Amino acid sequence: MSIPEYPILSVSSVEAVYNGAIAALHGVDLLVGRGEIVALLGSNGAGKTTLLRAVSNLLQAERGAITAGRITFGGGDVSRASPSHLVRSGLVQV
Ligand SMILES: Nc1ncnc2c1ncn2[C@@H]1O[C@H](COP(=O)(O)OP(=O)(O)OP(=O)(O)O)[C@@H](O)[C@H]1O
Ligand SMILES: [Mg+2]
Repeated sequence: MSIPEYPILSVSSVEAVYNGAIAALHGVDLLVGRGEIVALLGSNGAGKTTLLRAVSNLLQAERGAITAGRITFGGGDVSRASPSHLVRSGLVQV
């Protein structure tokens, strides 16, 4: 996969846990360019849903947390964005 020149979504070295203990993501890196379509593939329990929860800042609702790394959308840190902002930005569809 080529590296997008201007990624709109950037996931960098992300680690995530549930309940402060259950490790679910280990050093995930992902760059998505504007207009690019990406499919996430993996076996049961690989962490697909967890990654999407992390990207949409919904991990806390499941007692999850990002413990390392950074996720940005349009240059802004996703973890600092409110759900309503993420929906307005187009990152999360409801
Ligand atoms: N709400 C939760 N609380 C605790 N652990 C969880 C929770 N959700 C997922 N996990 C754990 O996190 C890891 C990643 O699970 P996740 O649901 O992200 O995988 P997945 O790739 O979406 O799997 P599937 O293909 O079954 O949908 C697994 O070890 C799973 O047991
Ligand atoms: Mg899933």
